[in-house]
Amino acid sequence: MNLIIVGKPGAGKGSVAEVFKEKSDIIHLSTGDIFRKEMKEHTTLGELALSYIGKGQLVPDSVTNDIIYKILEKNPSGSYLFDGYPRTVNQAECLEQMMEKLNMKLDLVCDLEVKDDLVIFRLSGRRVCKSCGTIYHVINHPPKKDGICDVCNGEVIQRADDKEEAIKARLNVYQNQTKPLIDYYKAKGLLRSVDGDQSALDVYLDIMEILDNEKGR
Ligand code: AP5
Ligand code: MG
Repeated sequence: MNLIIVGKPGAGKGSVAEVFKEKSDIIHLSTGDIFRKEMKEHTTLGELALSYIGKGQLVPDSVTNDIIYKILEKNPSGSYLFDGYPRTVNQAECLEQMMEKLNMKLDLVCDLEVKDDLVIFRLSGRRVCKSCGTIYHVINHPPKKDGICDVCNGEVIQRADDKEEAIKARLNVYQNQTKPLIDYYKAKGLLRSVDGDQSALDVYLDIMEILDNEKGR
């Protein structure tokens, strides 16, 4: 099964991916996580990514498409959960070509719907583990010990792009460059909407129900 989760910054894509990983063998493919790892290691790609991500802008399509292709071609028979990719129509078209070439099939695109004020509440309160990436929230889901990851004891920090100015820029980028994907996938009959304003577990259960219904068709 190959599944894309689209949604505004803070819609809960990463959080629902954590539930999927807990409950299945699906491979979580988050371009945001890939870029953050490269930035942490100060690689050339990391330095390039930082120059865009810090301002809330997208990394160029050619760079991102290349990364995805290299991953998929190594294991085209895996089940993937795409989180944060594709996020432009160009990336969606490229993914389609890659999948065709690798004989892969896209099963479903889930649009996690949330309002802007919830996005701002979630992102301004989000904290992440610097070492393992586990996602927290200062009110909804704080770590048991302040500033320390429950999973690996790593340092829990605020993401560089979760500052107010970058959040606003990311919401604009979503509106102008990512939202057109909704119509793109609707036209292909692959898009289903899911209410993102519920627990990550309930979001997961809604997606599983949609997948079950699709299988039964
Ligand atoms: P990326 O890391 O993909 O960021 P994003 O799309 O802005 O999404 P977020 O990770 O901020 O939000 P999320 O939906 O995963 O929410 P989360 O689960 O963490 O990309 C970062 C940057 O990298 C981009 O801006 C761009 O520059 C670059 N980039 C990445 N991919 C790219 C691409 N394909 N092309 C070009 N550039 C690319 O949740 C947020 C908070 O809410 C957390 O605190 C969480 O605890 C809380 N929360 C989540 N769900 C719930 C829930 N159901 N109930 C209560 N609280 C919840
Ligand atoms: Mg995320």
